[in-house]
Formats: sequence, C-alpha cells, structure tokens
Amino acid sequence: MKKRLGIILLFTLLFIGFIVNWGYSYKKGLEEAYIPIKKESSGPVIYSEKKVFERSQFALEYLNMPVDEAHQRSLNSYYDNRAYPGAPPSIPHFLLEGERGMGGKACLQCHQNGGFVEKFNAYAPVTPHPEMINCKQCHVAQNSSSNFRETTFYKSITASVGSNSALPGSPPMIPHQIQMRENCLSCHAGPAAPKEIRVTHPERVNCLQCHVADTRDFVEIQTFVRTKSLKK
Ligand code: HEC
Ligand code: HEC
Ligand code: HEC
Ligand code: HEC
Repeated sequence: MKKRLGIILLFTLLFIGFIVNWGYSYKKGLEEAYIPIKKESSGPVIYSEKKVFERSQFALEYLNMPVDEAHQRSLNSYYDNRAYPGAPPSIPHFLLEGERGMGGKACLQCHQNGGFVEKFNAYAPVTPHPEMINCKQCHVAQNSSSNFRETTFYKSITASVGSNSALPGSPPMIPHQIQMRENCLSCHAGPAAPKEIRVTHPERVNCLQCHVADTRDFVEIQTFVRTKSLKK
C-alpha cells in the first residue's frame, strides 16, 4: 500500500513538474524577440547635418502621397509672399485665436506637420524651424497692401531651378544658403512644397550626400562698421 502511494505521489509530482515546465516554456515562446538597443551616443553632432534628417520619418509617406494637382503651390506664389528670397514670408491668412500672442502652439497645430486646411482651401506649409516658437517676431500678418512700397532690393535674384546641374541627370547644386534651411524635407516634400522644387526622391534622406551648396555666388556678409560718427 505504502509503495503504491509512493509511486502515485512520484507520478503526480512528475506531472505537476511537466505542467509547470511546459507552461513556462510556452509563455517564453510568446514573448517577442528582444535586441537591446544602444542609446544614441552623446558625441558631437554637426547641427546642420542633424537637421537634414529631422523629418525623415515621413519620407516614405511623402514618396507614396498622390499629387493633389488642384491645390499645388508654384514658385511664383511662393516668392510673391516674400520681400526677397530668404525673407520671412508674411502670414497670408487671418489669424485665429492667439492673435495677440506670439504664435507658438497656435501656429504649430497647422505648421508643424502641415496638412489640408478646409477653410483656407490650401495645404499648410511645414515650418523648417518649429523650435523658434516666437513666430510673430519674424512673420507678420498681411493686413494691408497699400502701406508698403515696391522694393528693388534683391529683385535681381531669379529662380535658378533647372539650371543647377553640371550635366543632365546629375544632382543639381543647392542654389541657396543652408543656414536656416537645414531641414530640407520641410520645403522640398509634401503637398505644400512648390511644384517646381518638390523632390522626386524624398526617401533618399541624406540629401547632402549628393547635393552640395553652390557657394560661388555667396557674398561674405562682413561685420557692420558705421562709417560716420553720429557724435559731432
Ligand atoms: C488652421 C491652420 C493654420 C493655423 C492655425 C496657422 N496657419 Fe499659417 N497657413 C495655413 C495655411 C493652409 C497656409 C497656406 C495658405 C495659402 O497657401 O494660401 C498658411 C500659410 C502661412 C504662411 C506663408 C508661408 C509661405 O510659404 O508663404 C506663414 C508665414 C504662416 N502661415 C504663418 C502662420 C503663423 C505665424 C501662425 C500663428 C500665428 C499661423 N500661420 C497659423 C494654415 C494655418
Ligand atoms: C527668427 C525669425 C523667425 C522665427 C522666430 C520664425 N520664422 Fe518662419 N521663417 C523665417 C524665415 C527667414 C523664413 C524664410 C526661410 C527661407 O526662405 O530660407 C521662414 C519661413 C517660414 C515658412 C515657410 C517655409 C517655406 O516653405 O519657405 C513657414 C511656414 C514658417 N516660417 C512658419 C513659422 C512658424 C509657424 C513659426 C513659429 C513656430 C516661425 N516660422 C518662426 C524666420 C522665422
Ligand atoms: C526654406 C525652404 C527651403 C529649405 C529648408 C531648403 N530649400 Fe532647397 N530650395 C528652396 C527654394 C525656394 C529653391 C528654389 C531656388 C531658386 O528658385 O533658385 C530651392 C532649390 C533647391 C535645389 C535646386 C533644385 C533645382 O531643380 O535646380 C536643390 C538641389 C535644393 N534646393 C536642395 C536643398 C537641400 C539639400 C536642402 C537641405 C539642406 C534644402 N534644399 C533646403 C527652398 C528650400
Ligand atoms: C543618391 C544621391 C541623391 C540624394 C541622397 C538626394 N538626391 Fe536630389 N537629386 C539627385 C539627382 C541625381 C537629381 C537629378 C535627377 C534628374 O535630373 O532626373 C536630383 C534632383 C533633385 C532636385 C530637383 C528636382 C527633382 O526631384 O528632380 C531636388 C529639389 C532635390 N534633388 C532635392 C533633394 C533633397 C531635398 C534630398 C534629401 C531628401 C535629396 N535630393 C537627396 C540625387 C540625390
């Protein structure tokens, strides 16, 4: 009798052991594979190079986005809104809440990532500098067109699109400064990009690998020196 109980106990223990083991390995089998990811190194970064990749998580989305022909911008209307190339564009729409404020969040809800805005019937251009939250320091609303005079300042700069490549098919040189224009995809990709400069290959995210700045015409802006003394 004792021997029989012993055998039953042994097998019960073995069975419980089997269930526990099996349950454990089954649970382990359901876990996802895990590769420890190394933390981003905190070594020195080149600011202008880092910002080139800022919007690269949207690159494939841009690539697969159908072109909305009816709402495309052109370089003409792009320049129309600027005193000279590189000047901060004026705000072409009425301001919403936060009109008295500096902008920041009120503006970024549309200008951080863009998208179609029903009431303006246009795509919001993506800002290349979402970190400069004091938007209205540089961008002013167009409340009047009569207060301003036509200027000839920098009017000589004309669009160079299409004439920046050394050979047909070679990557065109960048005809503009990189400072404040590090974030290439914000202006060159997506539905708000002027159609002439909308890039066919937003997925090649390392833009500066192939495109280099054409610095031949850049003028060195020297330190401002007052020629006449104001004191007399
Ligand atoms: C409801 C969404 C929305 C909000 C909020 C908004 N904008 Fe806009 N913004 C647009 C759209 C859409 C356009 C494009 C208009 C067009 O092309 O006719 C635009 C155009 C602009 C432009 C012209 C860009 C260019 O390339 O010519 C500037 C500058 C601008 N907005 C600045 C601002 C500022 C500053 C604020 C905050 C005070 C702001 N916007 C708030 C949707 C918005
Ligand atoms: C220090 C001045 C300054 C501040 C602050 C600033 N901007 Fe700009 N912004 C500029 C200049 C200059 C340009 C023109 C850039 C160029 O053409 O190289 C520009 C261009 C733009 C454009 C058009 C991009 C394009 O397609 O050319 C948008 C949209 C814009 N800014 C939105 C904003 C918003 C929204 C804010 C606030 C979050 C803001 N800006 C803050 C100076 C500024
Ligand atoms: C503030 C908006 C803006 C940003 C940011 C910007 N660009 Fe541009 N880019 C333009 C405009 C506007 C033109 C057209 C210039 C002209 O009319 O001569 C242009 C022209 C170009 C061209 C010439 C295209 C052709 O067909 O000849 C290249 C190449 C280019 N950009 C590359 C870049 C690269 C690379 C970056 C990022 C380092 C960048 N751009 C960032 C606005 C921008
Ligand atoms: C592997 C090299 C390479 C990379 C990386 C690259 N480009 Fe280009 N890009 C080219 C070549 C080559 C052309 C000329 C294409 C042609 O003439 O058909 C070109 C043309 C362009 C043009 C003229 C319009 C067009 O699409 O043909 C613009 C604007 C431009 N590139 C911007 C960019 C931007 C912005 C990036 C980063 C997102 C980028 N490129 C990354 C090689 C490259």
